[in-house]
Amino acid sequence: MDGSDRAGAAGTAPTAPAGPTAGFWQERFASGRTPWDRGEVNPALEPLIARGTFPAGALVLVPGCGAGHEVARLAAAGCRVLAVDYAPAAVALTHERLARAGLDARVVEADLLAWSPSERFDAVWDQACLCALHPDRWTAYATRLADWMSPGGTLVLLAVQAEREGRRQGFIEGPPYHCDVNAMRALFPSSAWKWPKPPYKSRAHRSGFAELQLLLTRVG
Ligand SMILES: C[S@@+](CC[C@H](N)C(=O)[O-])C[C@H]1O[C@@H](n2cnc3c(N)ncnc32)[C@H](O)[C@@H]1O
Repeated sequence: MDGSDRAGAAGTAPTAPAGPTAGFWQERFASGRTPWDRGEVNPALEPLIARGTFPAGALVLVPGCGAGHEVARLAAAGCRVLAVDYAPAAVALTHERLARAGLDARVVEADLLAWSPSERFDAVWDQACLCALHPDRWTAYATRLADWMSPGGTLVLLAVQAEREGRRQGFIEGPPYHCDVNAMRALFPSSAWKWPKPPYKSRAHRSGFAELQLLLTRVG
């Protein structure tokens, strides 16, 4: 056995984190290849505002805010919104949208896997952010989300159902990564999150993928 064997599969030692980088997303915005962007507020948000999931004054995190449609809507509803994205173009688009509408929200350019908030959130709106992260990074991200929430806080997870034949066989690499409900149950266990009973709402998206809506309450 030589040294590299003893080191334990030196060739497979972790290097850079897996998955897309800020540069990847920045280029998608710069080239206008943003099929996830509806060009409007996600219709799933309005009924949730109406039923009090995002009450005025609530501190709400929007991770991976993209062009900021939902950031502006939540700010208009009176929420104290903190939006985070590491693509400068997303941050700029969100700032512009807020300014055009005369709304206020904090928009931070940061990597969600390195950033730490100084407050705990009453609610989180995760729309296609988890599914934008490589699955290698899901556990770290889910642990962070759990730490960032106030007890009783609500996580709204819009989980992209991205399974296709090529993906199932590992031929297609890249986002959106398939966020099936069983994977979500493993990431957000019932010891820390209250799960409503199925069935869960699902909505077609213009990208061709369905978006599963999961509303989890932080417990413990
Ligand atoms: C698929 S887009 C979704 C954007 C928006 N939520 C929407 O649905 O229109 C994913 C967004 O998450 C951002 N993002 C991905 N990984 C991130 C990370 N580690 N930290 C911060 N932002 C990230 C990307 O820059 C991009 O704006």
